[in-house]
Amino acid sequence: MQKHNLSISYLQYHQASELPDTLGHLLEQAHKSLASSYAPYSQFHVGAAVLLENGIIVGGSNQENAAYPLGLCAERVALFAASSQYPGIKVKAVAITAHTDAFVIENPISPCGACRQVMTEYENLHQQDITIIIAGETGPILVFENASSLLPFSFNNKNLAE
Ligand code: THU
Repeated sequence: MQKHNLSISYLQYHQASELPDTLGHLLEQAHKSLASSYAPYSQFHVGAAVLLENGIIVGGSNQENAAYPLGLCAERVALFAASSQYPGIKVKAVAITAHTDAFVIENPISPCGACRQVMTEYENLHQQDITIIIAGETGPILVFENASSLLPFSFNNKNLAE
């Protein structure tokens, strides 16, 4: 029997103005995406923005449904939109933020497991890390080097081959 340990590293910024310009701009675009959020059931609005290697930014927001499980998170809306509009173009970064009228979001919005799995798929496909920027309305902004560090032991295409 062997015991293994994993560790991840991330950067913590106190405010958006401290971010490198590209990431700061991407986070602004994620804020703009909040306007298209359709969240009548949770009232929790999430905005995402995906930066592609060709410099194009594709936004996305959470889209809910009266049949609750059918709703989709902002990150997957943005990533699937990017991949279908710009197939084969590598994903460089994803920014995520949120808003609700119910309270002030003081902690960064952490992508759910399903969204981490989808981000990991594109990292594997393009063999390129995706920088992940997560922010609340106040509080710190965290920047992760890649999606796979947020989802160790993910299921991937290698599991499907002999
Ligand atoms: N949601 C996202 O869009 N992204 C996340 O990372 C977490 C949760 C959405 C799903 C649902 O519409 C609402 O937030 C409340 O869970």
